[in-house]
Amino acid sequence: MKTVQEFRIMKKENKRISIVTCYDYWSARIIDESNVDAVLVGDSGAMVMHGYPTTINATVEMMCNHTASVRRGTDKFIITDIPFLAHKKGEEELFRSVDVLMKAGSNAIKIEAADGNIELIKNIISSGVPVMGHLGLTPQSINKFGGFKLQGTDKISSNKILNDAKKLETAGCFSIVLEVVPSLLAKSITEKLKIPTIGIGAGKYTSGQVLVLQDLLGLSKNFSPKFLRKYLNGYDIILEALNNYSSDVKQRTFPGKEESY
Ligand code: KIV
Repeated sequence: MKTVQEFRIMKKENKRISIVTCYDYWSARIIDESNVDAVLVGDSGAMVMHGYPTTINATVEMMCNHTASVRRGTDKFIITDIPFLAHKKGEEELFRSVDVLMKAGSNAIKIEAADGNIELIKNIISSGVPVMGHLGLTPQSINKFGGFKLQGTDKISSNKILNDAKKLETAGCFSIVLEVVPSLLAKSITEKLKIPTIGIGAGKYTSGQVLVLQDLLGLSKNFSPKFLRKYLNGYDIILEALNNYSSDVKQRTFPGKEESY
């Protein structure tokens, strides 16, 4: 398993960090055998695994169940998202959430945005829990942004993202996700920080990349944002397998002699 110290060294040595989301045991088993450096149990699981339209429906219990399933399938470094408002219900409640997520098998947690979170982040880190920041298009604030839109497009907003990144680094975050921001903004942030930046829709200059597993496998048929590269036509491949199975059953060619006792 990679450590937060190794992620920092990877940035220093200009080695790219690959992260993929995962929410379940059987995918975790495959990821475990891969070269991917770390796993994010993202609150995107509320959308990908549960069919909600946004990440707002993710709960601590949901994140905990997904984290525990992923941990049973992999020894890789796991980062789990603190879901919508779970860090805004008082410090005691937040620490209860961090406690259950770490006991479920997480190695670090991720908190979206910097505003109002810096002291909380410092307290979590001083308790021994690594924290990953997340700036740019932070999906828990989707209603504030008015949709999944490119962030940091003007001087004021790009300066804010840069300053927030510096604040998160000073607070002790071990890494920061930059989501859907211009490549040159991500480059400038990456150059100014010692900690690694992990991009999604943030271009090629970040210290690493993260993608949603189902997106990179091409399982989300109608989801094709500009930043996504599909490494498999998973949707069509699985559909074809299911139709072949169904057709074999109906034509009585499955099970055959070799699949029978
Ligand atoms: O929840 C998630 O999957 C994320 C990534 C998109 C960074 O936060």
